[in-house]
Amino acid sequence: MPSIQNRFVIALVSILVALAAGQVRADGQESRELRTPKPPDAPQIHGPKVYGARPGHAFLYRIPCTGIRPITYSASNLPSTLNLDSKSGIISGQAPDKPGEFLVQLEAASAVGKDSRPFKIVIGDTISLTPQMGWNDWYTFYDRITDSDVRRAAAAMISSGMADFGYQYVDIDDCWARKPGSKDPVLSEPARDSQGNILANARFPDMQALTEYIHGLGLKAGIYTSPGPLTCADFEGTYQHEDADAHQFAQWGFDLLKYDWCSYGKIARDKSLAAMQEPYTKMGRIVGDLDRDVVLNMCQYGMGDVWKWGRQAGGNSWRTTGDLGLVPDRSLPGFYSIGLANATHSEFAGAGGWNDPDYILIGMVGNAHQPESGARHTQLTPEEQYSYMSMWSLMASPLIFSGDITQLDEFTQNVLCNSEVIDIDQDSLGKQGRLARKTDNEFILAKPLDDGSLALGLFNLTNTPRTVTVTWKDLGIAGKQTVRDVWRQRDLGSFAASFSSQIPPHGVTLVRLIPARAQ
Ligand code: GLA
Repeated sequence: MPSIQNRFVIALVSILVALAAGQVRADGQESRELRTPKPPDAPQIHGPKVYGARPGHAFLYRIPCTGIRPITYSASNLPSTLNLDSKSGIISGQAPDKPGEFLVQLEAASAVGKDSRPFKIVIGDTISLTPQMGWNDWYTFYDRITDSDVRRAAAAMISSGMADFGYQYVDIDDCWARKPGSKDPVLSEPARDSQGNILANARFPDMQALTEYIHGLGLKAGIYTSPGPLTCADFEGTYQHEDADAHQFAQWGFDLLKYDWCSYGKIARDKSLAAMQEPYTKMGRIVGDLDRDVVLNMCQYGMGDVWKWGRQAGGNSWRTTGDLGLVPDRSLPGFYSIGLANATHSEFAGAGGWNDPDYILIGMVGNAHQPESGARHTQLTPEEQYSYMSMWSLMASPLIFSGDITQLDEFTQNVLCNSEVIDIDQDSLGKQGRLARKTDNEFILAKPLDDGSLALGLFNLTNTPRTVTVTWKDLGIAGKQTVRDVWRQRDLGSFAASFSSQIPPHGVTLVRLIPARAQ
């Protein structure tokens, strides 16, 4: 039996060995293994392979591309109404006048290599052919948001490299308008000018200049309002000004509108489904008729099974649940219950209309219960963060980060910016993964991809390591499959009929099964 001193030494040595192996953190938590490989120095183009725009409307797309700068961009078969800036990789101009498809090939070259990637531009009525990617200020700034915060966020989307992976929308949430009744001169009335035009508060001196700045970076701008007289934070809403406000947003240059139910409950004539749909159908029609492509993100927390009618109402995405940041963590963090609820609506998602389980709350993020307390680092374990991002990608969810984009640490960035994980989310087939298995201890999400492969997430819901096994029979597939570890971006080998993985507590194994014939 070792002496007390020896036992102490043995314990100390094993902790040091584990630390050296990166299995535990100095604070006793599990390791913060950076699974995402560093992007190579040579250019690698990322982002969706299919992109929708309405005929004759302004067009803007910054080619997401990693690699050492300078990079020179080119594209073949680009519609003649569009122009590609070879230095910045920003495509701009006007979408062609007639519906049609352009099989564009994007190219990027630098001193150390080159890459190319297909990019099908589909001119027609449908936009948002893949889920939106971007950042929203809510969980960082709440009612404190200013023009300069938004500019800094847009600049950070570029400088952090997030835009090189496809993050594109810089979205202003609630609290940019005036606040009726407020005594604060910065926020106070009038909420509208003498013609009834909605006014931004004094923290936003020039909305058009702000969107021009964002567009200048090749990014897009989002704005927020409510069909009710007031927004959820009691700022001016759009009730009885819907048409004028939507036109104002388009004129300011916004590319996305989040339309949040909030005080509309006081306006709705009754609790019927028709009354609930009315404001969204109305705004859907208005936005669809604008002479600008504006993505409509419907936010009414899933009422009336919005996934069944959100697309018909003109929505490009619809929140399926209440606010993720307000869900209490029980035995599991809130993103699991939100995500698993969202997972049951897979049949309703597809090109042009996506189930939205709310934002990605990791990194430095504010507490929605105490917005004034400021941002602090997420309490989610590394494994939970990998699970969160894997679930959202397998569910073809909008990937909207809402932590502080100006304070991205290496780990958070590795969760948000893995090109193969994002490719699953943005896949051209546009299928939301379905729940192939769900018990109290584990679940499996399976998402068919455009190239005939299947993305698969095996999730461990327990507090101990767990082996999860899936058979090809469970998944309705057959034959040899190459199994690729998506986070680490490496093949694990060829498997004949099943795959098993030992998964840490609250962790995930995210793989792609690539049938032998598709290789
Ligand atoms: C609601 C929405 C949130 C956020 C706030 C703003 O709670 O669900 O996403 O927009 O309003 O007040």
